[in-house]
Amino acid sequence: MTLSFPPGFLWGAASSAYQIEGAAQEDGRTPSIWDTFCRTPGKVLAGDTGDTAIDHYHRFRDDIRLMAGLGLNAYRFSVSWPRVQPTGRGPAVQRGLDFYRALVDELLAHGIRPAVTLYHWDLPQELEDAGGWPQRETAERFAEYAGLVAGALGDRVDLWCTLNEPWCSAFLGYGSGVHAPGRTGREAPLRAAHHLNLAHGLGTQALRAALPARARIAICLNPAVVRARTGSPADLDARRRIDALANRVFTGPLLRGAYPDDLLRDTAAVTDWSFVRDGDLATARQPLDALGINYYTPSLVSAADGEDRPARHDGHGAAEHSPWPGAEHIAFHRTPGERTEMGWTVDPTGLYELLMRYSREAPGVPLYITENGAAYEDKPAADGTVHDPERIAYLRSHLAAAHRALTDGADLRGYFLWSLWDNFEWSYGYSKRFGAVYVDYATQARTPKSSARWYARVARTGQLPA
Ligand code: NOJ
Repeated sequence: MTLSFPPGFLWGAASSAYQIEGAAQEDGRTPSIWDTFCRTPGKVLAGDTGDTAIDHYHRFRDDIRLMAGLGLNAYRFSVSWPRVQPTGRGPAVQRGLDFYRALVDELLAHGIRPAVTLYHWDLPQELEDAGGWPQRETAERFAEYAGLVAGALGDRVDLWCTLNEPWCSAFLGYGSGVHAPGRTGREAPLRAAHHLNLAHGLGTQALRAALPARARIAICLNPAVVRARTGSPADLDARRRIDALANRVFTGPLLRGAYPDDLLRDTAAVTDWSFVRDGDLATARQPLDALGINYYTPSLVSAADGEDRPARHDGHGAAEHSPWPGAEHIAFHRTPGERTEMGWTVDPTGLYELLMRYSREAPGVPLYITENGAAYEDKPAADGTVHDPERIAYLRSHLAAAHRALTDGADLRGYFLWSLWDNFEWSYGYSKRFGAVYVDYATQARTPKSSARWYARVARTGQLPA
């Protein structure tokens, strides 16, 4: 049966600055923590960096033409903080802002709605040198930066996202260290999480002050779908603990203005949370105009006894340090079923569960799937074409799950494929291809895969064929 999506549904793709732009040293851009991390031996597979990436900085006009040719009506991209505010303080660099204004103009000229993410992990290195996200000042700096970008793009962008996947910034950046800045610790990730919540709140206030009333402000989370391996009390408790550290550490403050009691209890040996100041939680809880959900795969946990990785939170190779402060004993297991090239199980029911959960937990807040997609080992055939039936199957099953959530009452407004082009996949470098468009990194040639043509049809018709 063909499934129809509502009129006005956004059919988009998502990307982030460091993963696609390149031009790392051009027009006044300074290093971000990812530039530094990539230069630290052993952190990124094959020593890959985002120096050139897919050279989108120079090729954005062609890239947008391709996107328009596929019939997409929305595009979620991120602004590189060190490109527009190189030291993380003070006035903006005009050339940096000009790039994003040109990008937005090009999108609008092609009938594509821009959705701007302010922070997709590329903290200016100077702010990390001053302490990074575990320091309160970083949240204040973020609000200033948000105001600068809003001032430059507010007349032409009406969809805004403050932070992308703050869980990764906090727990992979400062807990397990598999993401930049590569620090390991137990209290630091919780401090970072708090300052990211605060940054969202302060950033939202700065955006509201600078943007027209029609602007819609969201945050993009990567909520975990956590399943217990058995129904034993110990495994159910493991699930509760991971749910607190993965999900409620953000949704508690953002949606309810409080950290959950069980999280405070579970982490009591790690921190007394004294970095939370009076008023912070009220600041973090700003009215949300939308909630972005990034979903790839569920997690399966048990009280203990051995990990069989990979879990969604690993870097390339298994992490030596746990990203779960106070829950280091909990084991992650492979969920049954088919896997993508990341080792992540294909399980669209997780997406359905998340959409229904956040419909309940954030009543009245429209939802967007701000990322969903899969990496496969795509290779051009002798005639140059790239066939990726597994990606089509992945997208089809996840879109069907999204449709089921719509039918069951979720206020879902759009879907952003991760990603349109193959790109730099963080600690995996260029070894994982998430694109619907194949990128030959040697020549920078772009070749739409069969999934791009398939997705284009869905986007154009608003219908998921049987
Ligand atoms: C999460 C991130 O937001 C994005 O940057 C990453 O490439 C994809 N998901 C795939 O891992």
